[in-house]
Amino acid sequence: MIDGKKVLFSGMQATGNLTLGNYLGALKNWLTLSDEYECFYSVVDLHSITVRQEPAELRKRARNLLTLYIAAGLDPKKNCIYYQSHVSGHAQLSWILNCFTYMGELNRMTQFKDKAAKHADNINAGLFTYPVLMAADILLFQADVVPVGKDQLQHLEITRDIAQRFNAIYGDVFTIPEPYVGKTGAKIMSLQDPLKKMSKSDENPNASILLMDDEDTIIRKFKRAVTDSEACICYRDEQPGIKNLLDIYCTCTNKSTEEAVKEFQGKGYGEFKLAVGEAVVSVLKPIQEEFNRLSKDKAYIDGIIKENADKAGYFANKTLRKVEKKVGFPERIR
Ligand code: TRP
Repeated sequence: MIDGKKVLFSGMQATGNLTLGNYLGALKNWLTLSDEYECFYSVVDLHSITVRQEPAELRKRARNLLTLYIAAGLDPKKNCIYYQSHVSGHAQLSWILNCFTYMGELNRMTQFKDKAAKHADNINAGLFTYPVLMAADILLFQADVVPVGKDQLQHLEITRDIAQRFNAIYGDVFTIPEPYVGKTGAKIMSLQDPLKKMSKSDENPNASILLMDDEDTIIRKFKRAVTDSEACICYRDEQPGIKNLLDIYCTCTNKSTEEAVKEFQGKGYGEFKLAVGEAVVSVLKPIQEEFNRLSKDKAYIDGIIKENADKAGYFANKTLRKVEKKVGFPERIR
C-alpha cells in the first residue's frame, strides 16, 4: 500500500516496434488504472540485454517507449514511469532472489525454451534467470497487482512461488502479487493470419499495425487484411479474421460487439475494413502527434526521467534494505 492505494507494477521491453496489439492489449488498459492504483510502469531495459542489442538503438527505443507511455495518456505525475536500469535495486534484489530459485523451476519456463530455441547461439545465464529479474521487479515495489498478458502468467506464478518461499523463511517480507486481467482483455491477432497473435517481430509487414504507421499505411494494411468467403460480418470463431477486425473496431470505438455487428449488417467486407482502418487512425493519430511534440521537448522528458527514477528508487530501497537485513547482510553505516 502507498498512500492507501494498492500498488500496481508492469513493464514493457523496448525491443522491436510497438504494435496496435501492444496498445489495445496493454497500454490502453493501463490508462484506466492510475486512479485506483499507485502505478509503476517500467521500461525494462535490463531484460532487453538477455538478447544481443545494438547499444545506440536500444537507448533510442527505450526513450521512445518511455515517451510513448506519456503520449498515450499516462500522466507521469500520477504514474511512476522510469527506466529499470536507473534503479539499481532491480539487479540487487534479483541476485538475492536467484539464491531462492531452483534450476528445476526455471527449466520449466516455456518462454525460456522458446527463446533458447530462437537464440541458439546465445543461450546466456541471463536468459535463463529472466523470470527471477521479473520477480524482483514486482516484489521490489510490493506490488499487489500486475497486468500481464497470458504469455507472462507463468512468470507471475514463479514470482508468487519465490515470494512465498522467502516469506516462509523470513516472515512477511513480500506482498504476494495477483495477475490483473483487463476488462476488455482484447487480444489482437495478426491481420494476415488471424489465428496468430499480432507480433512486433512478424516478418510480414502487413500482419501488424505499428503504433507509428501513418494513415495511408494503416488503411492499406486493413484493406489487405485476411478475411474469408462467408460474406457475413458476424462475430464467431469460424470467422477469425472478421472476429479480430470486430475486436479492433470495438476496442477503438468503445462500442459493444452487438452494436458493431448491427452497424455493419448487410455491408460488404471492403466497406467494413475501411471503417476499421479509420477507427484505428482516429485512435493512433492523436497519440502520434503528442509523441512528436513530446519528443522535441527534451528538457521536459529528462525532468520526468530524473524525478521518477528518484521516486522508484525510494520505494525500491525500502524493500531492499528490509530484505538485506533479513538475509543477514550488515547494516549500512551512515
Ligand atoms: N517480461 C515481460 C514481457 O516481456 C516484461 C516485464 C518485465 C514485466 N518485468 C515485468 C511485466 C514485471 C510485468 C511485470 O512482456
